[in-house]
Amino acid sequence: MEQRSVSPETLAAQGMGEADPVSGGLAPVISLATNYERQPDGSYPQDRVYTRADNPTYELAERLLAALEGTGCACALFASGMAAATAVFQSLLPGDHVLVSRVLYWGVRKWLAEFALTWGLDVEFTDTSDLGALAAAIRPGRTRLLWVETPANPMWEVTDIAAVSALAHAAGVRVAVDNTVATPVLTRPFEHGADLIVHSATKYLNGHSDVLAGAVLTARRDPFWERIRSWRRNAGAVPGPFEAWLLQRGMRTLFLRVHRACDSALAIATELSGHPALTEVLYPGLPSHPGHQIAARQMSGGFGGMLSIRLAGGAEHASAVLNAVRVFKQATSLGGVESLVEHRAVMEGPSSPVPADLLRLSIGIEATGDLIADLDTALREATP
Ligand SMILES: Cc1ncc(COP(=O)(O)O)c(C=O)c1O
Repeated sequence: MEQRSVSPETLAAQGMGEADPVSGGLAPVISLATNYERQPDGSYPQDRVYTRADNPTYELAERLLAALEGTGCACALFASGMAAATAVFQSLLPGDHVLVSRVLYWGVRKWLAEFALTWGLDVEFTDTSDLGALAAAIRPGRTRLLWVETPANPMWEVTDIAAVSALAHAAGVRVAVDNTVATPVLTRPFEHGADLIVHSATKYLNGHSDVLAGAVLTARRDPFWERIRSWRRNAGAVPGPFEAWLLQRGMRTLFLRVHRACDSALAIATELSGHPALTEVLYPGLPSHPGHQIAARQMSGGFGGMLSIRLAGGAEHASAVLNAVRVFKQATSLGGVESLVEHRAVMEGPSSPVPADLLRLSIGIEATGDLIADLDTALREATP
């Protein structure tokens, strides 16, 4: 039948629009086989040998995510977002200099602090929203990777991907963007010049808080990409087929969920702005946010479902609000259908750079009015 080009939203809703070739089913089957039959001539008819390297159920989710992130890119699923992120760092060589966003997901910062040194990497944290600082930090011939998270956990600082990519590329530096929070619904980093994209697929891509998975995508199938794929195969950093299947199912509603979360997050941020119990509402969709103008250019269709609030009464006040909410669930993680609230400084421990008065909110898909009423009541009732 004649193929028609359709939008990423339609591709996601229809899981690439492909029926299962054997049954004709519109939902794909899960391929649990760990190994594939070798022919007498030594060949493997579909080029698959063992599931630590390839599996048709991983490939379904990989093809869909690649289609959402842009034309011509390739994708590899991993067992978690951390497995995906560390595969990129571990594909570098000892002595390589790596520049990393100063504000970023705590788990990546912790891994870099604990393991990158023993791996021989020279890691330097820099403010990637300050182009002058970034230009000064690049060491031509030694810097091999710039790692950017935008909007970045948990202050939601915004980095201009096109500007940092231009700077990095002029010095031969590869740019990797953690696109977990924006998702390809709001930002497609390859279109802004990024070379690699990393996801915690545990978050919005799956969206139902019931799968741990990650992904790395590349704009080009170059030798560095082959190293990342080889790392996955040889280290065994793969998800299970059931997780990959759940992930492709979750992605079918990605656009609906992300748009809904963005609308509610903006409504909540607007409602809470200027609230007497708060000193700050951090959300890139607010014109007062320092990264708003870049976000307005770089993100399309919304500013994300994540925001943070800072309590006038400090850490104790933050704890009191946390215990006063009823609709928001008190839990870590983000990007699920249910709204979450978390005291990041407590979660991250004494080495955390996150202010102790900050609560991080992950907005789900519940009725917006219920979420606003819950926060309003909690802020009124909670006393520092
Ligand atoms: C932005 C970001 N990147 C990476 C990760 C790590 O992902 P995972 O928990 O799937 O290993 C997280 C987890 O919270 C995250 O928020």
